[in-house]
Parts: sequence; C-alpha cells; structure tokens
Amino acid sequence: MTRIDQIRQIFKETFSCEPAYMARAPGRVNILGEHVDYNDGLVLPAAIDRAVYIAFAPAKTRHSSILAVNMNQRVAFTPATISTRSQIDSTPLPDWARYPAGVMWSLSESGLKVCAMNAIFASDVPIGAGLSSSAAVEMAFTVAWQTLGGWTLSPMRLALLAQKAENEYVGVKSGIMDQFASACGVEGKLLLLDCRSLEWKTLALPSSVSIVIADTTVRRKLTSGEYNKRRAACEEAVRLLQQYLPEIESLRDVSVEDFNRLEKNLPREAGMRARHVVEEIARTRQAEPSLEAGDIRMFGKLMNECHVSLRDLYEVSCPELDTMTRIAGSLEGCYGARLTGAGFGGCTVNLVEKSFAEKFSTALAKRYEEETGLAPQVYISHPSNGAEMF
Ligand code: GLA
Repeated sequence: MTRIDQIRQIFKETFSCEPAYMARAPGRVNILGEHVDYNDGLVLPAAIDRAVYIAFAPAKTRHSSILAVNMNQRVAFTPATISTRSQIDSTPLPDWARYPAGVMWSLSESGLKVCAMNAIFASDVPIGAGLSSSAAVEMAFTVAWQTLGGWTLSPMRLALLAQKAENEYVGVKSGIMDQFASACGVEGKLLLLDCRSLEWKTLALPSSVSIVIADTTVRRKLTSGEYNKRRAACEEAVRLLQQYLPEIESLRDVSVEDFNRLEKNLPREAGMRARHVVEEIARTRQAEPSLEAGDIRMFGKLMNECHVSLRDLYEVSCPELDTMTRIAGSLEGCYGARLTGAGFGGCTVNLVEKSFAEKFSTALAKRYEEETGLAPQVYISHPSNGAEMF
C-alpha cells in the first residue's frame, strides 16, 4: 500500500467515509542564509521530498476533529475553545495540535472563512530535526482550510498567515523562511528569497551536485527560548548601532565595513550574534553569482564558513553537528557541509558531487556512528514542489 492509500484508509476508518480532498506540504532544507530571515536578510532554502500528507473533508459538526497519525492522537476543537488552548471537552490541546489550531486562529483573525473539518495527517518530515516539520503541518492545514473555505490566496500570502500562527499562537518568533519554502517550493530548484521585500526567484541546482541531508538524531531542547533570545540579541544590536547609523532598520542595513568599525560599541554577546548575521547576509549575496558562474567550490566554501559562524558566533551548534560536518568535509566529493535550520541538534546539509553522493552518504553514516555511537539517517534529497492538493 502506498503512503497515500494508507492515509485514505486511515481517514475512512476514522470518519467512516472517503476523504473529500488530499494535500501535501513539504519540509525544507536551508542551503545558505541561516538566522537571517528575521533580520530582513536573504535566504536560500529548497522544499524537500519529505512532507506532511493530509486527507480531509468538511465536518457536519460545529467542531473540527483532527487525528495525528504519527502520534496516534485525536483532538476536537472550535474557534471558541482554541482561544483558551483547549478542546471541546476542556482538556488542554496537546503540543502538536497547537499548529492546526494556530492556523485556524490566524485565518479567522484575518477574517477568512474557516469551516469545521475532519482531517487526518501523517508526516515523514522528522520532528525537531531542523527540516521544518512544524511549518509543513501549518502549510498543510492552511491549504486545507483554503480549499474548504472556497477562497484563494497566493502561496506567499498563505505562508504569511501560517507564520502568524507560529509567531502569535504557538509563540515562536520565527521568520518567514520555513513557511515560504513549504508554500512556494519548486521541483528541482533552490529558492532565493529577500525577506524584506518578499521578492523571490528560483536558482537552478547545478546538475552535477546532490543535496545530502544528514540527521545527527540529536533533538533540540529549549529551542524556542534560545531562538527567541537570539532574535532579541539582534534587536538589541540594531538599537545600539542606530546611535551611529540612524538610518538602519535592521542588521540587513549594516555593511561588513561599518560593522567592523562599530562592533566595539556592542556588548560581547550581541556583537557576536550581529557579526554572524551581517556576514551571513554578505555570504548569501555571493550565492547567486557563484552558482551562475558554476563555481560550486566557492559556494561550498560559503556553506563551510556559515557553519563555523553558527558554531562560534551564533552558538547554535552542538558537538554532534560539528562531528557530522567535520567528517563530511574530509570525504571525497564534498563541496560544503553545515548545520541547517535553527540548530541545537537536527540535521546537516551537504553539497556533494553527484557521482560521489551514494558513497559519501554511506561513509558519512558509518564514520559518524563509529565516533558517536549514534545511528544517523543520511539521505540524498531532491528539491520538491510546495504545498499542493493532489
Ligand atoms: C527556524 C525558523 C526560521 C529561521 C531558521 C534559522 O527554522 O523557523 O524562520 O529563522 O530557524 O535560519
């Protein structure tokens, strides 16, 4: 049975009828531009071939019933109960249900019609691995409620509504990158997004390289707290730098030269965080010309520099991510390796010469396991389309 047949089957068993619709929304991998989306910077993610699959139909009840196949848990809520983060029987919403509930809240806040629905969803995006499993859930439900509501918005607008759910309902002050990539992904392409203007375009992934994702299997802890602290440090740096550069609105507006001159006026920690952001935006600006020139070595070097900066300045790496990137860098065919996503655990992304990709993946998994005792998941990933009905 295919995954899709399975989901259809579980819907039938749960709700005693066929699903009216099916949709998928992918996770993402970020290739360059890490922790810069909330600083108005440039990012270069791709949607991946791992996704949340949802089967759904309008409900005849006033409440929505949702089954999370991976958790084997079912919840029921209405717009009124989610405002108190609870279900119709007054029990609290489990953590995973804050994503669909948050989407319902965000869409209703924007005045969009949100119908009660019966839905089941399953995901093969690993949770907490830096591949945006939560944005994929949010986008799947955004697309599902759009379908049932009979309204149509652009993928970017849908991404912004899902981001609002994450920021204001779930409480993580994330940027737009994850929901954008899950909404706007294009088969075979990298996505270059300007997080200030929200203009974006696709860049071809050179045909000679593969994207390899390596999951350390270490899961992040206390992420949202640490994430929000990083964001606050960037805001503090902007406030302090505005004394010298009154025209700046975000770290995006600070050149590397100005930063070098002014860093001494910042407290140590805010200075380190801001230096990462300023230099990472400069690195991401170089991505397009290097890819256009076919200079994959240069591109890989930018990825390696990004990892060092995330480790030493932004301090979001961990020993296992450092081990995984170190081993990758020593293997034949690897152009660049770095942690991807928010950090504190999860996955690395590797750019590898296509003809070496299989051998690279096997060797990386073997050596990582020998060094850490942890059995990693390593796989070659293909950029996929964004959220869609099927
Ligand atoms: C998380 C957030 C994104 C982005 C990355 C770091 O994935 O959701 O908005 O900030 O971390 O680049």
